[in-house]
This record gives sequence, C-alpha cells and structure tokens, in this order.
Amino acid sequence: MAIAGLAATAIVAFIVVVLFISWFSNPPFGWGNAPDQPIPFPHTVHAGPVEEGGHAIQCEFCHRNVTTGAAATVPAVEVCLICHKQVNGANVTPAAEVDPDKHINIQRVLDRHADNNPIDWERVHRVPDHVRFVHEAHIRFLTQGEPETVTLPIGDEKPINLPLEVPEACSVCHGDIAGMAEVQPQDSQSLKMGTCLDCHRENSVSTDCTVCHK
Ligand code: HEC
Ligand code: HEC
Ligand code: HEC
Ligand code: HEC
Ligand code: HEC
Repeated sequence: MAIAGLAATAIVAFIVVVLFISWFSNPPFGWGNAPDQPIPFPHTVHAGPVEEGGHAIQCEFCHRNVTTGAAATVPAVEVCLICHKQVNGANVTPAAEVDPDKHINIQRVLDRHADNNPIDWERVHRVPDHVRFVHEAHIRFLTQGEPETVTLPIGDEKPINLPLEVPEACSVCHGDIAGMAEVQPQDSQSLKMGTCLDCHRENSVSTDCTVCHK
C-alpha cells in the first residue's frame, strides 16, 4: 500500500515536473510580458499609419525574408542606418514636439553601428527547435489565394475576407504590430501545436508530424 502510494506520488511528481519545464521553456503566447528590448523600438513610429503620427514603413522593408523564406528575420543595424544617418530624432518632428529620449535612443543605434556592435533583439515569438515554421507558405495562403470568406481558428475568430494585404496577414498571428509601441504576444493568438493543427485541418493542409517536426 505504502509502496504503491509512493510510486503514484513519484509518477504525479514526474508529470508535474515535465509540464512545469515545458510551460516555462515555451510559455504560451499571452502569458507574461515580452522581455525589454536593448533599445526601445516603437513599431507605432515606424509602421504605424501616417494619420496616427507613424511613418507607414512596410513590414517587408525591415523583415526582408518574410514573404520569401522560413524566418521573417529581424533587421541588422545597417537597415536602420538607411534612415538614421539623416533622421536623428530632432530634425523630422516639428521643434515643439522634440522629445530628448528620441534623439538619445537613435544615437544609441548609431553608436552600435559605429562600434560594430550588433543589437541583440530579444525574441518575442519562438517555436522550439524541433518545430519547423515557414512564413512564406502562410503569407502566400493569406495574401494570394482566390477571394473567400473564412474563420481562422486564431485571434478573435471573426470571419475575414481573403486575400489580405501583407500587414493584415501578419496580424492574423501577431496582432496589430503597427499599433504596438512594444511588441507583445497576444492573449488570443496562441501558436501552440493545437492552433497550428486546427488551421491546417480546416484548410486541408497536411497534419503529418513530419510537416512541422524535424
Ligand atoms: C525608412 C526609414 C527608417 C528606418 C529604416 C528606421 N527608422 Fe527609426 N525612425 C524613422 C523615423 C522617421 C523616426 C521618427 C523620428 C522623429 O520623429 O524625429 C524614427 C524614430 C526612431 C526612434 C525613436 C523613436 C521614439 O519615438 O522614441 C528609434 C529608437 C528608432 N527610430 C530606431 C530604429 C531602429 C533600431 C531601426 C532599425 C531596426 C530603425 N529605426 C529603422 C525612420 C526609420
Ligand atoms: C523600421 C523597421 C521595421 C519595420 C518597418 C517593421 N518592423 Fe517589426 N521589428 C523590427 C525590429 C527592429 C524588431 C525587433 C525589436 C522588437 O521586437 O521590438 C521587430 C520585431 C517584430 C516582431 C517580433 C519578432 C519576435 O521576436 O518574435 C514582429 C512579429 C514584427 N516585428 C512584425 C512586424 C510587422 C507586422 C510590421 C508591419 C506592420 C513590422 N514588423 C514592421 C523592425 C521593423
Ligand atoms: C501563421 C502564423 C504567422 C503569420 C501569418 C506570421 N507569422 Fe511571424 N511568426 C510566427 C511564428 C510561429 C513565429 C516563430 C517562428 C520560429 O520560432 O521559428 C514567428 C516569428 C516572427 C518573427 C521573429 C523572427 C523571425 O525571423 O522569424 C518576426 C519578425 C515575424 N514573425 C514577423 C512576421 C511578419 C512581418 C508577418 C507578416 C508579413 C508575419 N510574421 C506573419 C507565425 C506567423
Ligand atoms: C491561419 C492558418 C494557419 C495557421 C495558424 C498555421 N498554419 Fe501552417 N499552413 C497553413 C496553410 C494554408 C499552409 C499551406 C500553404 C501552401 O499552400 O503551401 C501551411 C503550411 C505549413 C507548412 C509547410 C510549409 C512548406 O512550404 O513546406 C508548415 C511547416 C507549417 N504550415 C507549419 C505551421 C506551424 C508550426 C504552425 C503553428 C505555429 C502553423 N503552421 C500554423 C495554414 C496555417
Ligand atoms: C501544424 C504543425 C504541427 C504538426 C502537424 C504537429 N505538431 Fe507537434 N508541435 C507543433 C508546435 C508548434 C509545437 C510547439 C508548441 C507546443 O508545445 O504546443 C509542437 C510540440 C510538440 C511536442 C512537444 C510538446 C511540448 O510540450 O514541448 C510533441 C511531443 C509533439 N509536438 C508531437 C507531435 C506529433 C506526434 C505529431 C503528429 C501526430 C505532431 N506533433 C504534429 C506543431 C505541430
């Protein structure tokens, strides 16, 4: 009796430990906040609409690989310099709106470049190493198909009309990034295996383990 009880306790403890590790090594999106970035980078200012004071830079201008490859890629500091050689935070905004932090943060970007010191951006969305994800296939599905109305098993699950524009396609899985001063995972947009499988099933895409697992 005592031994069986002990064994049961050990098994339960083992399961708890495994769940605990998998939870913390891969917390579900929406759980907790994204880590602080080495330099605050507001998507609002860069990708936000002009009406809201943004500069409406296209997502693909910085995430250059997103429509053609597996990884979206985060831009190297050279991409920042395309603009920030000139734009220093004190010469674009009307003088009355000049915010000293803007100038300081842009100067930090320039210093990184001058010192040949890459900016190590913290990852916000990441699947474990044993999982394969390909941006290109998903952007193509969302932006290039025949017109149709679908309800995707992710986000607020309202019917949407395909095809979407590129930034709208990103919002399906990442939320309204252009409206975020700081990229945060979205509560409703879990990219756990269940969501991947549901969307594949609903769109007649293979759900063989080997599609997503190396
Ligand atoms: C296509 C042009 C362009 C590119 C590329 C670009 N920026 Fe900017 N950035 C701007 C403009 C315009 C502003 C607004 C400046 C102002 O209002 O004075 C800005 C503002 C900023 C600010 C200050 C924001 C604030 O309000 O505090 C930071 C920090 C910044 N950029 C970092 C970066 C980094 C890092 C990169 C590269 C990953 C980058 N930028 C790439 C155009 C660009
Ligand atoms: C001026 C360059 C620039 C533009 C334009 C831009 N981004 Fe980014 N993006 C960055 C940088 C730099 C980071 C890394 C820092 C961070 O996470 O805030 C980033 C991070 C992200 C991340 C989080 C990556 C991760 O770690 O999981 C997503 C998602 C993203 N961008 C989507 C978008 C979308 C969608 C658009 C268009 C609406 C867009 N970005 C436009 C530069 C840019
Ligand atoms: C079908 C869901 C989905 C869509 C649509 C999507 N992403 Fe992602 N994104 C992911 C997943 C999952 C990851 C984590 C991938 C990994 O860890 O390899 C990710 C990671 C990223 C990253 C982190 C760095 C990297 O190199 O991958 C960036 C940046 C990003 N996405 C930008 C975008 C942009 C921009 C768009 C729209 C053009 C977009 N994503 C559309 C699911 C999506
Ligand atoms: C919005 C619905 C949707 C979601 C969510 C989704 N997928 Fe997909 N996925 C698709 C569709 C549709 C295709 C087929 C695209 C095509 O026609 O090639 C696809 C294709 C793929 C492919 C094959 C790509 C290739 O070219 O080899 C992989 C791998 C994949 N998805 C992984 C994932 C993973 C991992 C997740 C979760 C993190 C995920 N998907 C979430 C709809 C989705
Ligand atoms: C459409 C993509 C997709 C397919 C198909 C898929 N998986 Fe996954 N799987 C994922 C993603 C994404 C994760 C990581 C996120 C998570 O843990 O939910 C994952 C995680 C896992 C894990 C680790 C769980 C953990 O807690 O770390 C196992 C085990 C697994 N998958 C087994 C399978 C098996 C077996 C199949 C075939 C029956 C399969 N998967 C098919 C996307 C997929």
